[in-house]
Amino acid sequence: MDIVLIGSGNTATVLGRKSLAAGHRIVQIYSRNVNHANQLSTRLGTSSTSYISSIEKRTDLIIVAIKDEAVSEFLKDLGEVKCLITHTAGAIPMSEARGLNNKLYGVLYPLQSLRKEMEIVPPITMMVGGNNQESKKLIREFAGSIAEIVIEADDETRLKYHLAATIVNNFTNHLFILAESFCKKENISFAVLQPLMEETILRLRNNSPRSFQTGPAIRDDKITLEKHRQLLVTYPALLEFYEMFTKDIQNHILDSK
Ligand SMILES: NC(=O)c1ccc[n+]([C@@H]2O[C@H](COP(=O)([O-])OP(=O)(O)OC[C@H]3O[C@@H](n4cnc5c(N)ncnc54)[C@H](OP(=O)(O)O)[C@@H]3O)[C@@H](O)[C@H]2O)c1
Repeated sequence: MDIVLIGSGNTATVLGRKSLAAGHRIVQIYSRNVNHANQLSTRLGTSSTSYISSIEKRTDLIIVAIKDEAVSEFLKDLGEVKCLITHTAGAIPMSEARGLNNKLYGVLYPLQSLRKEMEIVPPITMMVGGNNQESKKLIREFAGSIAEIVIEADDETRLKYHLAATIVNNFTNHLFILAESFCKKENISFAVLQPLMEETILRLRNNSPRSFQTGPAIRDDKITLEKHRQLLVTYPALLEFYEMFTKDIQNHILDSK
């Protein structure tokens, strides 16, 4: 397919690279910031623009990969297009891609954490949707060429996956950040925790996390819990999480009894 990419951030960059690798052609990059547009177009070997009026509409597919809140306004400013057009957001309804009066539109939501710096792109599950049979077929085919798994999902289902993804990825990563800064301040090595962090994720393959909870909260080891709280006196944010998680882990044991 001939593709115009809207945006120059993480998603536009990774989808652009995957599209090229799959044999598609990136015909243009649009980004509101001229330097960002140029950087990505150089990287993907194509042309760029920072003017909405110069966006190439004679193409097969336009992928709008910009900040969620900017999608609606951008699509209005773009005006009607005849080609297939999609956004990439998990939490935005498919109908937003209709813009002013587009006939073929849909969603390409990569259920993965994408960063433009990543050297190796991890396997991508693409959640797709289209407004009619033709757009569904085109989006499915395109998604299948750049993603490992393709799942058709309506707006409500996609939003639920987006929320679950936010919890398992963004929230977990935030806890790693808090643990890392605790380690730094306490002069211990965060890297020593690496095998434990890997094991935490690896054992979830085909298993429920319910079977794997260990630690002082589930055992209700009161003395150890108190020692941890003492250590966290100077880390109020972490202490708040600690209390919340401990309470919730213990409530879960009571629930399952
Ligand atoms: N990253 C992921 O892991 C991921 C995964 C699935 C779906 N998505 C979805 O993909 C979309 C892009 O996310 P991202 O992570 O790639 O974001 P990002 O790296 O922060 O890039 C955001 C892009 O949006 C542009 N932008 C911001 N405000 C704008 C505005 N008012 N008008 C026009 N362009 C604007 C930015 O342009 P400037 O460079 O000029 O600021 C930049 O090109 C979002 O809908 C997001 O939900 C992301």
